[in-house]
Amino acid sequence: MDSGIAIEAEGLTKTYGDFVAISNVNLTVRKGEFMGLVGPNGAGKSTTLKAVTGLLAPTSGTVRISGVDIKDHRHAMEHVGCIIETPEPYPGFTPGEILDYIGRMYGMDKREIAIRGRDVLEEVKMWEWRNKPISGFSKGMRQRVVLAQALLPNPEIIILDEPTSGLDPRGMVETRKVLQNLKTKDRTLLISTHILSEVSELCGSVTMIRDGKVVASGDVSELVHRSAKNGITLTVGTLRPMSSEALDGVSGLEGVKSVERKGENTVVIEFAGSPEQQAEVTRAVFESGAGILSMNERGATLESMYMELTEEGA
Ligand SMILES: Nc1ncnc2c1ncn2[C@@H]1O[C@H](COP(=O)(O)OP(=O)(O)OP(=O)(O)O)[C@@H](O)[C@H]1O
Ligand SMILES: [Mg+2]
Repeated sequence: MDSGIAIEAEGLTKTYGDFVAISNVNLTVRKGEFMGLVGPNGAGKSTTLKAVTGLLAPTSGTVRISGVDIKDHRHAMEHVGCIIETPEPYPGFTPGEILDYIGRMYGMDKREIAIRGRDVLEEVKMWEWRNKPISGFSKGMRQRVVLAQALLPNPEIIILDEPTSGLDPRGMVETRKVLQNLKTKDRTLLISTHILSEVSELCGSVTMIRDGKVVASGDVSELVHRSAKNGITLTVGTLRPMSSEALDGVSGLEGVKSVERKGENTVVIEFAGSPEQQAEVTRAVFESGAGILSMNERGATLESMYMELTEEGA
């Protein structure tokens, strides 16, 4: 039976004594979907991913991978590649040797290891380095070797805990490219991260977690659209400073939440209202006589939504 669901966690809770690390976490990842699990430090991302991959037993709740209960670990994880809490590859070995070892562990034969080994090393852009000892590799290169290990058995589902953490900007971009590439191969991806641009770039859906609880979950574009009270930010660049009277005039218009001067010739207007009301705001700015150079509209972003949902005391 194929339900189209790759990962399903229901009511996951993990407590350590009195401390509740995660509480009633639900997560559904459809086949072929890329989901980002985001939240501040200590929110419970790693705990959730460990429970999902069966590395820790939750206090309560269930996990099914492709319909198989994670308690049947071997069977459930058959088609899963995962990296949780960045294990280091053995420094004395070369990527080729490591993949050979892992491949044998998976019961792959020599030929299969050679073919898949080349595929994954090319996929993570480490083929040229296959015979060099890992001890001389940068952190980003090591990370990609670990990724190659996880991809070796050609898993349909890939679960990664902060795959770009600790990498420099180039390393991040390269790893993201590798992950982006996985999309073309019908794989399902669940990654945790606190880099929101990574979610926007890579993922179609997102689950936000805070203090061990899911605070938002769903399609990225839908959530962003619904969030942040659906307000927009208008940034106006003018030739001359807008007068205080003109700014007061704009402040008083319907739909305007705030007006703020940012530097001499820039005004930032937070607005949530109808298109007609927005046209009134534009007219008022125009008629102020300050001379409009530019007017830039920005809607709610994943970032504004995250800030709202993870605000202290929210
Ligand atoms: N073995 C443990 N014993 C006690 N508390 C733990 C244990 N493991 C995790 N915790 C606590 O559970 C909470 C969630 O931790 P977790 O590692 O899942 O967070 P995280 O979202 O992955 O954070 P980070 O972004 O820092 O990786 C934290 O407050 C952490 O201190
Ligand atoms: Mg973590």
